Amino acid sequence: MCGIIAYLGTRPAKEVLLAGLAKLEYRGYDSAGLCFSDKNGLLSFKAVGPVKNLVKTIEGNDKYSLGIAHTRWATHGEPSEINAHPHFDCQHKIAIVHNGIIENHNALKEMLIKEGHKFVSATDSEVIAHLIEKFDEGNLESAFIKAINLLQGSFAVVAIQAGSRRLLATRRSSPLIIGVGKEEFFIASDVPAVLAYTNQVIYLQDNDFVSIDDSGYKIKTLAGKEIKRELEGVQMNLEEIEKGGFKHFMLKEIMEQPITLAQTIAGRVVNDKIKISLQIIPGSFDRIVMAACGTSWHSALIGKYLIEEIAGVRVEVDYASEFRYRQPLISSRDIFLAISQSGETADTLAALREAKAGGAQTAALVNIVGSTLAREVDSGIYLHAGPEIGVASTKAFSSQIAGLLIFALYLRQLSGASLDKGLLMELKNLPKAVEAVLAGADKIASLAQQFKKTNNFLFLGRGLNFPVALEGALKLKEISYIHAEGYPAAEIKHGPIALIDEDMPVLFIATKNLLSDKILSNMAEVKARQGKIIAVVDRDFQDIAALADHLLVVPSVHPLLAPIINNIPLQLLAYYIADARGLDVDRPRNLAKSVTVE
Ligand code: M6R
Repeated sequence: MCGIIAYLGTRPAKEVLLAGLAKLEYRGYDSAGLCFSDKNGLLSFKAVGPVKNLVKTIEGNDKYSLGIAHTRWATHGEPSEINAHPHFDCQHKIAIVHNGIIENHNALKEMLIKEGHKFVSATDSEVIAHLIEKFDEGNLESAFIKAINLLQGSFAVVAIQAGSRRLLATRRSSPLIIGVGKEEFFIASDVPAVLAYTNQVIYLQDNDFVSIDDSGYKIKTLAGKEIKRELEGVQMNLEEIEKGGFKHFMLKEIMEQPITLAQTIAGRVVNDKIKISLQIIPGSFDRIVMAACGTSWHSALIGKYLIEEIAGVRVEVDYASEFRYRQPLISSRDIFLAISQSGETADTLAALREAKAGGAQTAALVNIVGSTLAREVDSGIYLHAGPEIGVASTKAFSSQIAGLLIFALYLRQLSGASLDKGLLMELKNLPKAVEAVLAGADKIASLAQQFKKTNNFLFLGRGLNFPVALEGALKLKEISYIHAEGYPAAEIKHGPIALIDEDMPVLFIATKNLLSDKILSNMAEVKARQGKIIAVVDRDFQDIAALADHLLVVPSVHPLLAPIINNIPLQLLAYYIADARGLDVDRPRNLAKSVTVE
């Protein structure tokens, strides 16, 4: 988490840094800060809260053309001005910004304090500035490298020194890119931060060390060996990362799902065949092991149903954070599939490395092109859902399910079995069905008004609709702060039914599948205890209408596509409830879009 942007060039650094920070706020927004440098020294500004609070503190100061900036998601030390980055050495001559966690900061801090260094913040990051100061004998590069070599953990760091026109940076397990313009250079956590100025970027790799001055950039290993990294032209355009007239990114991203799903599917279903370029040899695997976090983990659960039913291949799903530490039994007969929107989630990357070490073949379903995950797997499927800025994942989830369906069909095709042409046709028509659901957004907005004051919510589904229930509950709780639980509908009688009374709204995902009749009995059990029922249904189902207080009708689609369709009313309900509660939907409290710490 945390977003970094640094600039060295000819424009006012203030403009570049503040615009860059605004694009990086999805990575954290509990405080922000920046530091300019010129021959007279360093000048810094900090503010608690989102970047707009920082903007207010900086009047003028347009003369600086070099600076570093940071937007924070707190790990060590509460959100406060003192803990906001940049951090400094004792002399206030060195400034650093850091993303990640320095795991050995306590030991380093103790050593530095004994040597006379004075710390002002409660962060792990501040040790970096003091270490550089400790080693500085007139050569900043060498001091920087010595300091970095003492760090354990994950980090992307940029440092500057008073009076020097130079940016120094490195990364380990936290993303960092260089943007290259005409006579100007940028360093950032992610491409959108520099896209207004250049689309020419270099994706730095672990332990790359970069030194930039007005004459250009040099990339070396931390051992000092010069290396070449490819300058790549990125495809993303600026419009894709603007709100485009919507009140929030989340609403924009929900509404663009017909397009983003079409992008995920495009070119992958051709003449009733699946065309993807995964490096998987038929007969070379016995099972698929998937690991992911949050919403991506819910996609993986849906993937298990899809792959086992369509391809007849055994699937196991783990939380990445559990997988990485539980000594999983992995072999070369496993395909490890990591699922991630960002491709930078620390636990998912660690799980991937664990699976690789066990000899598994590796693949990823990932949205961000060029992300660490995309680079580390043997092969993968890009979602092509475009940048997702809202912290709550919406369009990426739909694209992940579509991607998993394509993956399941591909595995079936590999085995030589024929594909269901009806399903392929419906998959291609899916964007139209999604449009039809979105057309009902106003009805869901008025329903949200009735539930905006509730304190609890239950989401229930069976079969493929069970992970949809989990996802509906996650979406509601993360942006509205309403306590919500997802359960397999049949499980409620083993405990959660005790919660049901007239104040407990229960959302059933009750579209037609093999378990439709059974879910009716579960609904009756809730109704008998005065629970308020909202039901997502796909037909004129009299029995449900008699039990439900509110019906959300979605188009009938193939049952294997239903999770995508059924999830959309849940996304809209969560969005409209959070908005009706007056909350900052795109920046829910305590969260960040990209969780690059464990
Ligand atoms: O980028 P990833 O898909 O790896 O992120 C995983 C989770 O952090 C993410 O899905 C999170 O749960 C979202 N806030 C859900 O809306």
